[in-house]
Amino acid sequence: MIIRAIGLFIAAAAVMPAANTVTFTETIAPIVYQNCVTCHRPGEAAPFSLISYEDVKKRGALIATVTKSRYMPPWHAAHAYGEFAEERRLTDAQIAEFGEWINQGMPQGDPAKMPRLPQFPDGWHLGKPDLVLEMPTGFDLPASGPDIYRNFVIPTHLTEDRWVRAVEFHPSARKVVHHVLYAYVDGGALAKVDGADGRPGFGGMGSIGVTPGGSNSGGLGGWAVGATPIFMPEGLALPLPKGSDFVLQMHFHLTGKPETEKSVLGIYFADQAPERRLMGLQLPALFGFGAGIEIPAGERNYTVDDSFTLPVDVIAYSAGAHAHYVAKEMRASATLPDGTTKPLLWIQDWDFAWQDRYNYKAPVTLPKGTRVDVHLRYDNSADNPRNPSHPPRRVQWGEQSFDEMGSVTLQVVAVNKQDEPTLQQALADRARAAMRKGIQDGTAQRFQQERAGISGSSR
Ligand code: HEC
Repeated sequence: MIIRAIGLFIAAAAVMPAANTVTFTETIAPIVYQNCVTCHRPGEAAPFSLISYEDVKKRGALIATVTKSRYMPPWHAAHAYGEFAEERRLTDAQIAEFGEWINQGMPQGDPAKMPRLPQFPDGWHLGKPDLVLEMPTGFDLPASGPDIYRNFVIPTHLTEDRWVRAVEFHPSARKVVHHVLYAYVDGGALAKVDGADGRPGFGGMGSIGVTPGGSNSGGLGGWAVGATPIFMPEGLALPLPKGSDFVLQMHFHLTGKPETEKSVLGIYFADQAPERRLMGLQLPALFGFGAGIEIPAGERNYTVDDSFTLPVDVIAYSAGAHAHYVAKEMRASATLPDGTTKPLLWIQDWDFAWQDRYNYKAPVTLPKGTRVDVHLRYDNSADNPRNPSHPPRRVQWGEQSFDEMGSVTLQVVAVNKQDEPTLQQALADRARAAMRKGIQDGTAQRFQQERAGISGSSR
C-alpha cells in the first residue's frame, strides 16, 4: 500500500513540472554558472557578464535565442561525431528551461537559493611552471578596426633540449586576445622579420612556425577564449629544442578602447624524453600548401579532399582544424581495414574565431591499413557572411586573411615503438610531396613574394 502510494506520488510529480516555476536562483543561475561564466565575467573576452540576476534578465530573450540555435556556448565540433572531453554543450532540457523561464516572466526566486559563483584563481592553474616566458615588449592595439594578427618571438635561452607537457597562457589584456597558436623555431630564424616594421613582432596569420630557409620548427598547441590549460596525456610531450625561440601567433579582436598586450606564458616540462613521439597527421599536408587551392570568386561549393592509409597502428589523442574565413566545413573520418567507419571530427560551420583543439574522451585506436579521409568545403560567394572580400575575389593558398589554406590535424602516436620511423617517414614523404606540388604550381613563389612584402600579381 505504501509502495503504491509512492508510485502514485511519483506519477503525479512526473506530470507536474510544467506548472512549476522556473526561477533564476534555482534553475537558471546553476546552468549559467556551469556553462557560461568561464567567458561571461568581468575582464574576459565575452562582451558582457552573466553573473547577476539583472545581467541575465536584461538579455533573457537573446540568451534563449542563442542557446536554442546552439550558437552559445560556442563549440564547433558536431555533437556525437567523435566523442570529445569537456564538450561545451547544453542539454535539450536546459535549453527548454531558458524558454520556460522567459514565458514565466523571468522570476528571480529565493535569493537564498543562489548557487556559489565558481572560483577562477588568478595564479597558475597548473601549478608553478618550469619556465616562464614573457613578451619582451608590450604590443599596442588601437581602440577599433579590423582584427589584427601578429606573431611574437620570445627567446627561450634553453641550454638543453626539453619536452613540453603543457603551456599556460596569461594574456595581460584578456578582452582583446581571441586565440593564440604556439610554435618553436631555431633561435634567430625570424630575426629578419621580427620588428621590421618598427613594432614588436611581425604581421600575418601564416602557418605558425613555418619559416623560410627550412629552419627546424614545430607546433606546441594553442589557446582560445574560454580554454583551460591541461597537461598532455601521461607519457606524452612535445619537443622544445635547446636555443629555440618560442613563437606566439595572436589573433586580436579590438574592444573599443586602446589596449596593450604583454603576455606571460608558463611552460611545464616532462622530466625526460617521452616514451612515444607525438606526431601531427595533417590532411592535406602543410595546411594545403600543395593542394592547388584556387577558388573562383562566387564559387559556393569548392572542395578539397585528401586521404592517407596508415602504414602502422596508431592512437589518435585529439583533432584540430585550421583554415581562414572562406572555409565552411571540415570533416575527418576513418575507414578501418574491416570496413567499419569511425567519425573523427566534423565542423559544419567553420568559424575562424574558434580554433579549438578537440581532445578525444578516450584515445581512438586506428589499426594499420585504416584510411583517414578529410573533406574540406569552401564558400567563396557573397552569401558567406564571413567572406572578407566584398565583392568576392579569386582565393588562393596564402597567409593573409583573404587567402585560404586548410587541413585537419590528428595528434597521433605509433602503437608500437619500433613503428615510429615508418610513420615518421610516411608523414615526411607526404610533406615533401606537398612541397613539390606547391613549387610546381607557383604557390611557393607567391608565398615567398608575400613574405618579402612584394605584392604578387594576383592582388
Ligand atoms: C568559451 C567562451 C564562452 C562561453 C562558455 C559562452 N560564451 Fe557567450 N559569448 C562569447 C563570446 C566571445 C561572445 C561574443 C560573440 C562571439 O565572439 O562569438 C559571446 C556572445 C554571447 C551573446 C551575444 C550574442 C549576440 O548575438 O550578440 C550571448 C547572448 C551569449 N554569448 C550568451 C551565452 C550563454 C547563455 C552562455 C552559456 C550557456 C554562453 N554565452 C557561453 C563567449 C562565450
